[in-house]
Amino acid sequence: MSGKFITFEGPEGAGKTTIIQMLEQSLKKIGYPVLLTREPGGIKIAEEIRHIILNPENTEMDPRTEALLYAAARRQHLTERVIPALSEGQIILCDRFLDSSLAYQGFARGLGMKEVYQINEFAINGTMPHLTFYLDIDPEIGLKRITQNREREVNRLDLEKLDFHYKVREGYLTLLEMFPERIHLIDASKSADEVYEEIYNKVKMYLFSRE
Ligand code: TYD
Repeated sequence: MSGKFITFEGPEGAGKTTIIQMLEQSLKKIGYPVLLTREPGGIKIAEEIRHIILNPENTEMDPRTEALLYAAARRQHLTERVIPALSEGQIILCDRFLDSSLAYQGFARGLGMKEVYQINEFAINGTMPHLTFYLDIDPEIGLKRITQNREREVNRLDLEKLDFHYKVREGYLTLLEMFPERIHLIDASKSADEVYEEIYNKVKMYLFSRE
């Protein structure tokens, strides 16, 4: 079987990380080779770029610089990790990808989705996810979840005003309309078990239908 590239998207506090970990365990149990990774990062160069982008002290970061740095980190992560794993036939579960840049930088920061897509086209050079889950949650509830979860670091983008996070959500909802085949909407206000169950069933159906 050829590899599959599955990405997870959503505003802060939607619970992506928990769900992806649960999914990784279940898919491994039924015998799939799974690679869990995340953006921006997962490998040394991209983690270093991530550190620059998310450092709360970097208040002078220009929005276009931010978009370019995400695209650069994405490129490195793709060539070093995602593409080799795909050619080995692995199932890649990736926490955030291109849609994050389109929603955060393109829509919420106002750089334009088309413009941000263009710089990312150069970075991804044709590698798109086969399947994407968008975990939807009211940003206010999402941010409350984060502050309750002390293990999770607070980053520069968490500190944006609530208004920014509402725009991020609007950006994602626009993407859902643009890519209805690829992006699946998941109601992340439900319990982690329910959200996991729904995604696990969808992933299994997708994988079985392509074997
Ligand atoms: P992270 O700690 O991974 O947050 P989360 O647990 O919510 O995924 O931090 C990633 C942050 O970077 C998050 O605020 C979203 C943002 N981001 C962008 O703005 N653009 C991007 O292209 C990516 C990949 C992430």
